[in-house]
Amino acid sequence: MDFKLSDANILRVKCSVLVLGRFEEEGIIGSAKKVDSSLGGALSRVSQDEKFNGELGKSVLVNTLDKIGAERVLLVGFGKRAGFSSDNLRKAGILTAKKVKPFSGVLAFSFEIDSKRGDLSALIEGLGLGNYEFDKYKTNNKKGNGIKTVEFISSKVGEKAFKEELEFAKAIVEAINFARDLVNEPPVVMTPTKLAGIAEEIAEEHELQCEIFDREDIEKRGMGALLAVSLGSEEPPKFIHLTYEPRKKPRRTVAIVGKGITFDTGGLCIKPRDSMRTMKMDMSGAACVLGVMKAITKFNPPVRVHCLISATENMPGGKAYKPDDIVRALNGKTIEVIDTDAEGRIVLSDALSYAVQLKVDEIVDLATLTGACIVALGNYTAGLMGNNEKLIDKIIKAAKLAGEKVWQLPMDEELRKDIDSDVADVKNVGSRWGGAITAAMFLEKFVGDTPWAHLDIAGPAFIERGGDWYPKGSTGFGVRTIIRYLLEK
Ligand code: BES
Ligand code: MN
Ligand code: ZN
Repeated sequence: MDFKLSDANILRVKCSVLVLGRFEEEGIIGSAKKVDSSLGGALSRVSQDEKFNGELGKSVLVNTLDKIGAERVLLVGFGKRAGFSSDNLRKAGILTAKKVKPFSGVLAFSFEIDSKRGDLSALIEGLGLGNYEFDKYKTNNKKGNGIKTVEFISSKVGEKAFKEELEFAKAIVEAINFARDLVNEPPVVMTPTKLAGIAEEIAEEHELQCEIFDREDIEKRGMGALLAVSLGSEEPPKFIHLTYEPRKKPRRTVAIVGKGITFDTGGLCIKPRDSMRTMKMDMSGAACVLGVMKAITKFNPPVRVHCLISATENMPGGKAYKPDDIVRALNGKTIEVIDTDAEGRIVLSDALSYAVQLKVDEIVDLATLTGACIVALGNYTAGLMGNNEKLIDKIIKAAKLAGEKVWQLPMDEELRKDIDSDVADVKNVGSRWGGAITAAMFLEKFVGDTPWAHLDIAGPAFIERGGDWYPKGSTGFGVRTIIRYLLEK
């Protein structure tokens, strides 16, 4: 897709679809009104027929019968003017992309908004995200030509600002859609070895440092936790370490850590069929941090970034780790295995210990860690926990800017004893209740005093049926928040 700024007249612009926006409960005003009049009131009539009042997530499509330059007009709802933010524009973009899929040629936008910084990039982001589909395995996937060119008709946006917003949006879309692809690939393809290969490719492409530890390295270095989880699988585990070094002296050093279980059967505590399906998504944290690294040189954040991934399958093979096993993580702490299906926290214990050894200033991990977090918050919001309110606030701020929903859960002191073990330093499962929190408390044992935030993305990482603003399957959740966080002063 090509994007350009245009000063065309909206009544004369030659395009397949002209997209206009309107606020809720404000009627058809401004340029939409002009277009409506030229169409003999068709926009008003169709809106009335379809009970469309400018609500966010709704739109009407009207054929112009060649009364104006555009072949069709898509009138998109912005929602209420009060509370309107760039996130509404991202959503308008996503909706537009879905609605114009059948058409080809030129798409023209005329949104009369006081273009704040970030508005245009959010809109372009939305178009790129809404366009996403994972259909490479459909053999008769006859796609139309699709929209080739997108013109933004605006007198309020300058060429320079336009270019900057466009580049930003493109990089975000690239990172998110890349992460989505990694997750949507079937697990037979997206093995730990494959993930490691992809990390190497990213490193080569963008001149990042890359270190991959194979099974032998993992064992020699004392990553006994990752090693234990990998034992039941024929696929060798990998520990992935990418480093981004900013051009100027870094303001701080952070570690972004992703859970990379490329398939979670539950291990010997095997999952029933219905819970096992979709568990290719258990490397969504890894995909998120790899997506961020893929685009990081386009943002050039002023911080050194270590990207760490513990990658393995969780399988019930003959050598599989067992309930009652005691395993030792990289920082020397011992873990009593209660349930082999609580493997994410086990593999993360080594990655977090490793981050501490790197002496980073902050750690943020992303993991599809617990079903309990989905029970608590639903499919669209990530759980946020940690040991440092300042860092947690930073993540909340970054998520708001990014238009991703996160919600802090309390580190309830009374729950902490749930993971005390009689035979080891900690056990990997507490009682049934507060499972997202005790999982986070487990992770906390491996971060020492380093400020740390944990995003449990089990809900929003993968939405099988898709959502209003998400495609079916992987969503790429977390990419936008982490990029915003890294760009934060
Ligand atoms: N990968 C799962 C968590 C998960 C569940 C993610 C559903 C997405 C959707 C994790 O490894 C797991 O199995 N967690 C267990 C923990 C339990 C055994 C304490 C769970 O949530 O059931
Ligand atoms: Mn599991
Ligand atoms: Zn898992």
